[in-house]
Amino acid sequence: MKYRLPKYEDINILKEYVEEHYSNYERSISASKGMTNMKFKEWVDKINRNVENADDEWGKYYLYLVFNENDRLIGLLNIRFDLTDELRERYGDIGFGVRPSERRKGYATEMLKYALNVCREKNMKYAILGCYENNFGSNKTIQKNSGILYKNDCEERKLSDEWTINLKCNYYKIKL
Ligand SMILES: CC(C)(COP(=O)(O)OP(=O)(O)OC[C@H]1O[C@@H](n2cnc3c(N)ncnc32)[C@H](O)[C@@H]1OP(=O)(O)O)[C@@H](O)C(=O)NCCC(=O)NCCS
Repeated sequence: MKYRLPKYEDINILKEYVEEHYSNYERSISASKGMTNMKFKEWVDKINRNVENADDEWGKYYLYLVFNENDRLIGLLNIRFDLTDELRERYGDIGFGVRPSERRKGYATEMLKYALNVCREKNMKYAILGCYENNFGSNKTIQKNSGILYKNDCEERKLSDEWTINLKCNYYKIKL
């Protein structure tokens, strides 16, 4: 698999990636760091900038487009290697998503393995990963990469002025 930062020329493959999620009734694009809420070029600039220059919210991070052996974009991988301890506990160090048509082929397992190696290169001693309790695919992917469950928590999510819901999260630690 190939991992690289996004460029301006990726606009069409990313549009197609987003469309595929929407046509599968998925309205959020995991690990995309606000891609669909920004002008595309500004998003690309920001993602490339934040490798070296800390973002106010997320510090420095990598957001990689992930391609398979046929050069098809199969997922997005976000490695946040610069968070404070408090933010690590809240958001986790790694986020990932695989496009609906490419799921259950082992890609997320490979992507997480790759991300853990990047964390090792950054001299991190452990990685924290959080996921919703009912996200079977994500829980399994983390467990397959030696994730040890260490905490359950509830995330409050504000849907509108009137609606706030609580979602149950699992938090895992992986020794590096
Ligand atoms: C979660 C997600 C990343 C998994 O990606 P994937 O490429 O399908 O995962 P893998 O193929 O590597 O599967 C890993 C394991 O999970 C299992 N799995 C994957 N999806 C599953 C599902 N929906 N239900 C039950 N098990 C599932 C696989 O069978 C595999 O276990 P096995 O090797 O014992 O068979 C993908 O479903 C996705 O992008 N979902 C939406 C975004 C998301 O939830 N991201 C994670 C945020 S924390």
